[in-house]
Amino acid sequence: MNLVACIGAGNVGRAWAIVFARAGCEVTLYDSAAGAVEQHALPAIQQSLRDLAAAGWVDDAAAILARIHATDSLPSAVCGATYVQESVKEDLATKRAVFAQLGQHAPPETILASSTSAIPGSQFLDAAAQAERCLVAHPVNPPYLIPLVEVCPAPFTTPAVVDRCTEFLRRVGQQPILVRREVPGFILNRLQFTLVAEALHLVGEGYCEPDDIDKVLKHGLAMRWAFIGPFEVAHLNATGGFAGFIDNLGDMMRTLARDAKTDYNWGPELVAAIHHELAKKTPVEQIAPRQAWRDRRIMALRTHLADAADRLGE
Ligand SMILES: NC(=O)c1ccc[n+]([C@@H]2O[C@H](COP(=O)([O-])OP(=O)(O)OC[C@H]3O[C@@H](n4cnc5c(N)ncnc54)[C@H](O)[C@@H]3O)[C@@H](O)[C@H]2O)c1
Repeated sequence: MNLVACIGAGNVGRAWAIVFARAGCEVTLYDSAAGAVEQHALPAIQQSLRDLAAAGWVDDAAAILARIHATDSLPSAVCGATYVQESVKEDLATKRAVFAQLGQHAPPETILASSTSAIPGSQFLDAAAQAERCLVAHPVNPPYLIPLVEVCPAPFTTPAVVDRCTEFLRRVGQQPILVRREVPGFILNRLQFTLVAEALHLVGEGYCEPDDIDKVLKHGLAMRWAFIGPFEVAHLNATGGFAGFIDNLGDMMRTLARDAKTDYNWGPELVAAIHHELAKKTPVEQIAPRQAWRDRRIMALRTHLADAADRLGE
């Protein structure tokens, strides 16, 4: 699968283009907004490739860029593609319309994958002809730095397509996991937004400041989560392992879970107050350079994690 079409060239579509081109695929990049590819996506890709090269993450940024081709129509983007990654805006009607077009113009064997963050595939993939070759492949942004991809078949996706897609994603450097049954938000966003909802509750009810939430994650939870998950954290925090941890703290966990307000009804004042605090550090017009800074930090973290694993013989 060396001919890849990326449909939608926003934050995620342009990042996927880097993933595929870095792995040696020829990539066509299409967006319905005039100038979106040439004026925004390609310069952003060029900048990301410069940063990747500066950090030693890619050898030949120019060759990778040369494999990414702007196209001005969806049919021309997908007509020769062996794999299509859709990353248009998160809107059910838009996704249905795009999958109808993909089904019409992509070759019948082509895998059609969606980047949707939360919509179960069965709500829109069936708009495509031969819907059994369609599935969700949900990335984490930016996928050229964060390898996890959630592969989520719809009930009508054939197992062979799931296998081919998973194998392909692995080959281009990603770390796929299989979501075995459809669920809105898949795994990552259910975990992420459960935490964010409780954070809104804690700030909204005055238990702490917005910045304290970031500190709790940065200086606390994420220190361990960068290399082990919450189940292993628990396993290592009790002499009896995970079962011992639950023996000791299971009742407390249930009480806290009942008390958390993951359906907290936040209002516009709370949103404005948190935005105000964040914008003091990063004004909205400074988000692009701050994204580039974030990406350099992720590269540094991944380099450290790989070096540490080598040093420890893992
Ligand atoms: N931003 C994230 O962190 C993130 C992470 C994982 C998945 N996703 C998912 O990826 C998808 C894209 O998100 P994004 O953050 O890149 O959004 P974005 O707004 O940055 O980009 C979306 C792009 O889609 C284009 N578009 C809209 N309708 C189109 C159409 N009919 N045909 C072609 N292009 C069209 C827009 O012009 C825009 O450039 C969404 O489904 C989103 O939920 C986002």
